[in-house]
Amino acid sequence: MTASEKASDKPQTDSPASASPKASRRLWLKALIGLGTTGIGAWLYMRCLEPGWLRVSRHTLPTDKFRSRGKLRFLHLSDFHASSVVPFELIENAVDLGLAEKPDAIFLTGDFITTTLSEEDFERFAEILSRLSAQAPTFACMGNHDGGLWAGTSYGNGYPTSKKVESLLKKAGIEILVNRSEKIVIKGEEMTVVGIGDLWNDDHRPAKALSLRNEKPPHLERNPILVLSHNPDSKESLAAYDWDLMLCGHTHGGQCILPLFGTPFAPVEDHRFVEGLHEWQERLIHVTRGVGNLHGMRFNCRPEISLLETTPSS
Ligand SMILES: [Fe+2]
Repeated sequence: MTASEKASDKPQTDSPASASPKASRRLWLKALIGLGTTGIGAWLYMRCLEPGWLRVSRHTLPTDKFRSRGKLRFLHLSDFHASSVVPFELIENAVDLGLAEKPDAIFLTGDFITTTLSEEDFERFAEILSRLSAQAPTFACMGNHDGGLWAGTSYGNGYPTSKKVESLLKKAGIEILVNRSEKIVIKGEEMTVVGIGDLWNDDHRPAKALSLRNEKPPHLERNPILVLSHNPDSKESLAAYDWDLMLCGHTHGGQCILPLFGTPFAPVEDHRFVEGLHEWQERLIHVTRGVGNLHGMRFNCRPEISLLETTPSS
């Protein structure tokens, strides 16, 4: 018996190592088709489904951090990013969902646009935003995309100043707060709303609008102070000042949250404050994921409208 005859006597096995070249090619082809199908499905989900899949997030503000005599409902919306990848239909849906919550006041924390707006889009956007102010007092601060140093130079596709977005908001009946404060009364309850200019646009001047915080807590005896500041990283420069609740956007919640890696795309230094309600240095910071996005995709991070409710203090 020859050596080749001996080998042919061995029983055949089904292990991949012993698969014929044809069977091996078939296995590879199946794996590639599986990977391709998964990739296309994931891409379609990220592009076509999740960016428009709005959710409503709800938080109750603890009374020891934000005093209130009654139950108030604040609607917090941010980062509309009106653009070729964020249709006005999505923004309209967000506005409708928010107004259905019957808010007592509405707060907008910047990035209304991504790049410049056509006149036609300007008019349509103003009409959509005006629905907010028609239902409840509405206040806004500016984001890095709304015009200024960063938008006009570093980014390059925005306005060199925020005048255009300011005129959009004025047309929509929205009160613009940039480095200034305003005393307001909501359901008979007095509070102060402060808007701070954007950190990246070098328009961040908290000293113009806020008083320094005292060591002792008189902040628990005065009326609540609510700050609108687009970028949550601004908390450090606001630490020395007197306020109770800061509302922020900017992060888009990370926009794509990756298993094991978290939020590598969130444009902030402190990734603890990418979304949600947080206690920080005896006060509160709320970061919303926002409505729109950049580049037309989201993953594991649905867009949101946020509702914050106070509870009556005894
Ligand atoms: Fe943004």
